[in-house]
Amino acid sequence: MSSKPLILGSAPEDVNQAGDLIRAGAIVAFPTETVYGLGADATSDTAVARIFAAKGRPRFNPLIAHVANLEEAMHLGVFDKRARVLAETFWPGPLTLVLPRHKGCPVALLASAGLPAIAIRVPSHPLARALIREAARPIAAPSANRSGTASPTTAQHVLQSLSASIDAILVGGPAEIGLESTIIDLCDETPRLLRPGGLSRTALEDVLGPLDNGRTDGVVRAPGQLASHYAPNLPLRLNAASVSADEALLAFGSNIPLGAAAVLNLSASADLVEAAANLFAHLHALDRGPFTRIAVMTIPEQDLGEAINDRLRRAAAPRES
Ligand code: TXA
Ligand code: MG
Repeated sequence: MSSKPLILGSAPEDVNQAGDLIRAGAIVAFPTETVYGLGADATSDTAVARIFAAKGRPRFNPLIAHVANLEEAMHLGVFDKRARVLAETFWPGPLTLVLPRHKGCPVALLASAGLPAIAIRVPSHPLARALIREAARPIAAPSANRSGTASPTTAQHVLQSLSASIDAILVGGPAEIGLESTIIDLCDETPRLLRPGGLSRTALEDVLGPLDNGRTDGVVRAPGQLASHYAPNLPLRLNAASVSADEALLAFGSNIPLGAAAVLNLSASADLVEAAANLFAHLHALDRGPFTRIAVMTIPEQDLGEAINDRLRRAAAPRES
């Protein structure tokens, strides 16, 4: 990460360069009609891990995948009739659909935090659209603010809080809507409004009928609290310093205990960004018989380690049902 981000404008060669940067795994802030986003290649676990690092997100909150149109979106999520009608009515625009993840979905597991659902949005801002076209892949983008601070509606906001952690910024005017997208979850029969936002509830209700209000109370329902959080089938054992022959070992660093049935290393060089990028993919790979348990080595509770440990603790917690 550079200490001074590259400042790019709306000229075609600038957008072209931003697209190249995204493809190369860089973090590029860009304007959307809702708020500025912190964009990276959604198909790369490493690029996505760098977003979490840049934001200082305490957990791997899932990210929205931004695509150019419904056709591209249909490679990512499973669209039923309702989803299709909403997309045709409100895209491009400030609406995010949470849908079951498509079998062939190319988006990194880390971007959807290991959940079986994926959040998809087609922004209307011309620079955002041009960037997606140039990158030629889905762009994962949370709001471009440090975790726990207000969402940025100008390039200035972004530079004030994140200039040390981004590689480039596409500068456009202030975000027209200034409020994040409305998020609706269509994974179950009953649609659920997860986050009120730039598209009004009444606009949605005109299409879907009355919306269930019970689970939102106008408050963002943090996926960190979702019951459906990633949980492996096998039990997890944390802080493993030794292993038995029936266990699969999720290792970290170079000093690895011997004797496990299988080993995958999150990062042999103890790099937490690399470890974050590998976390969900490695857990998935080890979560099978004949292993009886996944033993996980200690991950330092610093930087992205906090988020990694948060996820591992949740995955290891006793199942409620
Ligand atoms: O307007 C916006 O949506 C902006 C611009 C940049 O597009 N993005 C944005 O992203 O607000 P972010 O990460 O700050 O908020 C997205 C929220 C997450 O906090 C999470 O609650 C929800 O979307 N989300 C993402 N994927 C989800 C999933 N698979 N299931 C449930 N909620 C999800
Ligand atoms: Mg945000």
